[in-house]
Amino acid sequence: MTNVFSHWDKVYNTKNHAKVSWHQNHSTTSLDWILDSIQKDDAMIDIGCGVSILADNLLAKGFNNISLLELSTIALETLKHRLKKSADKLTLYNENILDFESDSTFKLWHDRAVFHFLTDPKDQQTYLQKLDQYLQKDGLFLLATFSPDGPKECSKLNIVQYDQTKICNLLGDKFSLIKTLNEKHPHPNGSIQSFNYFLFQKTK
Ligand SMILES: C[S@@+](CC[C@H](N)C(=O)[O-])C[C@H]1O[C@@H](n2cnc3c(N)ncnc32)[C@H](O)[C@@H]1O
Repeated sequence: MTNVFSHWDKVYNTKNHAKVSWHQNHSTTSLDWILDSIQKDDAMIDIGCGVSILADNLLAKGFNNISLLELSTIALETLKHRLKKSADKLTLYNENILDFESDSTFKLWHDRAVFHFLTDPKDQQTYLQKLDQYLQKDGLFLLATFSPDGPKECSKLNIVQYDQTKICNLLGDKFSLIKTLNEKHPHPNGSIQSFNYFLFQKTK
């Protein structure tokens, strides 16, 4: 992963944030599943949050222990400014998930359209090691990736498409699948992108 910081900063610097392919006006499956899964004061982290509306939606529901991790400084500063009235409920990390270090652990780890950018098996393993290290026992891993009938790239970067078998094999027996859902996400340009959502529980 070379120059990933500058790649994503350029995306957020040059594109209308409401027109990027992954944009949502309101969070869908992620929000529904988080509301069903954890309590409002449980620690959760959104990996590669971008400028996502998810944190706004969770704050509006009373969640108060939200960490946001994002590679792009521009995206994270945008969120920080937008959510400044709720700063006491947020912890911000401006870094690459592959380098993540923290004293905190999390009840829920959310990743929508970030893990699938890791095409190198070594990077995938580093990510999974961070997940294992920072997710509490019995914690939840909520992952959304492009599905095998979805796009093969995003923002000019190759991605890895996942179905249930592929992600379960990669995660191994430390995680058990609670549920999965295919979602047809409407791209702001009018096309449709097929996402797979997975909710796992850490069992070991
Ligand atoms: C397709 S966007 C999804 C943004 C957000 N999760 C959402 O659903 O709206 C991918 C985001 O992941 C961030 N990202 C990509 N690779 C990352 C990495 N290795 N560590 C942290 N963030 C990363 C990008 O900067 C970008 O904001």
